[in-house]
Amino acid sequence: MTFFNISQTFLKHRVRHWSANCQWTRSLAVSHTLFPCRGLSTDGSTPRPQISEDSIEVFSHVHPRDDMTNVTAKILSTVGSQLHNRPHHPLWLIKEHIKDHFYRSYIGRTGNPLFSVHDNLSPVVMVEQNFDSLLIPPDHPSQKKVDNYYLNCTHMLRAHTSAHQKELVRSGLDRFLLAGDVYRRDEIDSDHNPVFHQMEGVRLFSNHELFARVKNGEELSLFESAGRRTPQKQETHTLEAVKLVEFDLKQALTHLMRHLFGEDRNPIRWVDCYFPFTHPSFEMEVRFQGDWLEMLGCGVMEQELLCSAGAGNKMGWAFGLGLERLAMPLSKNPLLFSDISFWLPAEGYTENDFYDLERSIGGDLVREELLSSNLILFSYSPRTKRVSHCYRVVYRHMERTLTQEEMHIIHGAIEQAAEKELRVQGRY
Ligand code: PHE
Repeated sequence: MTFFNISQTFLKHRVRHWSANCQWTRSLAVSHTLFPCRGLSTDGSTPRPQISEDSIEVFSHVHPRDDMTNVTAKILSTVGSQLHNRPHHPLWLIKEHIKDHFYRSYIGRTGNPLFSVHDNLSPVVMVEQNFDSLLIPPDHPSQKKVDNYYLNCTHMLRAHTSAHQKELVRSGLDRFLLAGDVYRRDEIDSDHNPVFHQMEGVRLFSNHELFARVKNGEELSLFESAGRRTPQKQETHTLEAVKLVEFDLKQALTHLMRHLFGEDRNPIRWVDCYFPFTHPSFEMEVRFQGDWLEMLGCGVMEQELLCSAGAGNKMGWAFGLGLERLAMPLSKNPLLFSDISFWLPAEGYTENDFYDLERSIGGDLVREELLSSNLILFSYSPRTKRVSHCYRVVYRHMERTLTQEEMHIIHGAIEQAAEKELRVQGRY
C-alpha cells in the first residue's frame, strides 16, 4: 500500500518527458503570486471551467493550449468543488479536527493560535511552483506528463500541497497548515484517486526557538560551515539541530494521530524515505485492517528551499498528509466490489483510458465517495489473438452505506460506456 509509490509519491520512480518547446517557455514564466480560489464555492457564481480548441479557462484565467495540455473536461469539472471547505463533509470534518488540534496545541503568549490555516489557494499552480520551487529538477521522473494534469507547459493542477510551501514561507509565515485538493493522473484503486486532498504543515525555528529549552542552548547553533551531507543530515545543519527538529516533527505528528484515532488505537511506525525537498525524510504508516497504510510524508526542509524563500536563517520541518487516507481508518462504511472484464481492441487501448472513463461515469462518486479500481487479471486468447483485462472496481460511500442497487446502476453504466467509448468487447 503506498501513499507515495504510485500516486502519492509521485516524487519517486518515474521517467519523464518534456517537449523541447516547453522547456524554454517555462523558464520565461518566472513570476507567480498567491491567488486564492475566488468565489469558487457552491454559490454558482464562479464561471465553470471552459475547454475550447485552443484554450482552457479556469477561474477566469485563460491558458492557451500547447503540446503539454492533457487536462480533461471531467477533471476540470471537479476543480473548485472544495470538498474540504464544505461544512459537514467528511474531508471538512477531518480538516477541522486537525486544525483544532493545532490550534489547541500551539498557543502564543496572548492565547493566539500560532499556526495559520490556508484552505482556499487555487489548485491551478505554475509548473515552477509544483516542481522547481521544491528543488525537483526538470528531468525528475515526477514531472512526467502521463502522471500530472497540465493546463499547458507553464500551468498545471497542483499534484501536492507542497507546491505552496515556498510562497507561504516567503510571505513571512513561520507556522502554517494548508489544505487543498490535489490532482494526479494515474490509476484509481482503493488507495488512489485522481482528485484527492492533502494537508500540509510547516514549522520553522530560529536558533533561539530551537535551543531555548536546552541547557546551555545559547552555545548551540543551527548551522555549521564545513559540514557534510550524510543520511542523517544536510551539509549546512548541525546534527544536534537536526535531531531536535526531527524529534519535534515526529512528536507533533504522533500527537496529531492520537488526537484523531484515540490513545492506543491504530499503531504507527516511521519509515525512512526520500523527497527532493526534505532531508532526512520519513513516512508515517498507520496499522489498518492488518496492513501498514502510508499516511503522510515529512522531513527536515531543504535549506536551499528556505534560503530561496528568504528564510535562510531558520530551519524547519514539513509534512503532507492525505485526507482521504486518514478517512480510511476513520470511516466505518463498508466497501462494495464488482468486477468488469472485456476484450481489448487490437490497438490503441491503455489502462488509463479505462480509469479516465470510469472517472467520467462515476464523476460524483469519485468526488463524493471512494471509488477505486485495479487491473486484477490479464489474459490472452491464442485462438483469437486477443487480450482481455479484468478490473475490480471498489465502491464506498464516505458518509453512509452504499446499497447494492446503487452500485449496480453505476457499474452497468461503466460497462456500457466502456463498450461504446473504448471499443472494447464486454465479457459480461
Ligand atoms: N508532497 C509530498 C507528496 O505529496 C509529501 C511531503 C510533504 C513530503 C512535505 C515531505 C514534506 O508526496
